[in-house]
Amino acid sequence: MKTTSTAKWICLMIGLTTACLAGCATHSAWRAKCCALAKSDGGVLFGHAQDGAPVFIYTLRNKNGMEARILNYGGIIQSLKVPDRNGKFGDVVLGYDTLDGYLTNSPYFGAMIGRFGNRIANGKFTLDGQEYTLATNNGPNSLHGGIKGFDKVVWMAQSLQTPDGPALQLTYVSNDGEEGYPGALKVKAVYIVTKDNALRLDYTATTDKDTIVNLTHHSYFNLRGSGDILGHFICINADKFTPVDSTLIPTGKFRPVKGTPFDFRTPTAIGARIGQDDEQLKFGNGYDHNWIINHPMGKFGLAARVTEPTSGRVVEVWSTEPGLQFYSGNFLDGTITGKDGQVYQFRDAFVMEPQHYPDSPNHPNFPSTELKPGETYKNAIIYKFSTE
Ligand code: GLA
Repeated sequence: MKTTSTAKWICLMIGLTTACLAGCATHSAWRAKCCALAKSDGGVLFGHAQDGAPVFIYTLRNKNGMEARILNYGGIIQSLKVPDRNGKFGDVVLGYDTLDGYLTNSPYFGAMIGRFGNRIANGKFTLDGQEYTLATNNGPNSLHGGIKGFDKVVWMAQSLQTPDGPALQLTYVSNDGEEGYPGALKVKAVYIVTKDNALRLDYTATTDKDTIVNLTHHSYFNLRGSGDILGHFICINADKFTPVDSTLIPTGKFRPVKGTPFDFRTPTAIGARIGQDDEQLKFGNGYDHNWIINHPMGKFGLAARVTEPTSGRVVEVWSTEPGLQFYSGNFLDGTITGKDGQVYQFRDAFVMEPQHYPDSPNHPNFPSTELKPGETYKNAIIYKFSTE
């Protein structure tokens, strides 16, 4: 009995090794791939990154049936299935069916964003008296970590079971100087699908030199599953926002939302005022702004709540971050065909990115985004789903 199972195991190993070598030999990075393949840890092969590294997809499902599928490429949430008010599950995030779309043409669909979420003016900032120049990728500015941000790197993945629900831990070490940022940054992101139908993201990071960090998440939500999001109602827990210039860099001022189309202190349809003749809306071609969240920084607080009347789906965004970038999908223009052949049209999704304010390193009056050796950066985000 013992001999038979050992023999079977040896055969299996020989078979796997042969298959692996045959498959991998066609790629230059076959060795790394085979090692990573052995470490897929519950993931299913989804494709290969440009450098040949294997990319896996991991499924986290809770007892209620809520399910997130996550890639170790870019920490991307490829699909997120939650029930509507009749208990029917639907995918509420935009994305692609295959890795290719994510590799070639993704406006950060579902991605982990770093090292610095949002824009840094002219890709420049000064820290400890030294000026740093970052990779620029958004007009004159650096957006979402530069040309190859955390949304475009392969992460080490490990499946976990936590008391709150199934989880995936992703880790990545960003080298000193990557995309122009100082310090080697060790980043950990833990994704959990909790018992109470929340997707919880816990980010931590440490550095070996003074640096700046601003991590966030970039899922494109559509609680109806398709069509535009103008009929979704949103409430944002903010009395003020940070107005921007025409390149979406904050002017440095804090502006009260009262009396403006940015007042979402009571639930209001996203489309209700988006077309108003307002300079800020023109700069963003809609909403693409940072709201100053009313709760104290570092403590969990409700940042926003969105409801969709036809499906009854609700998402609440809780976070420890001082700001929330609310983006109404203004760059979607019908040129991307995503999952199930869906063509993503103008404003077919919205994004809610809890983060520090854009361009913080260049605004001493904004909460600091500096991280020093010995400190641990922490950011926790919860997207909690329910129905009404
Ligand atoms: C963020 C930015 C937007 C846009 C999207 C990606 O939300 O604020 O301006 O760049 O990412 O298209």
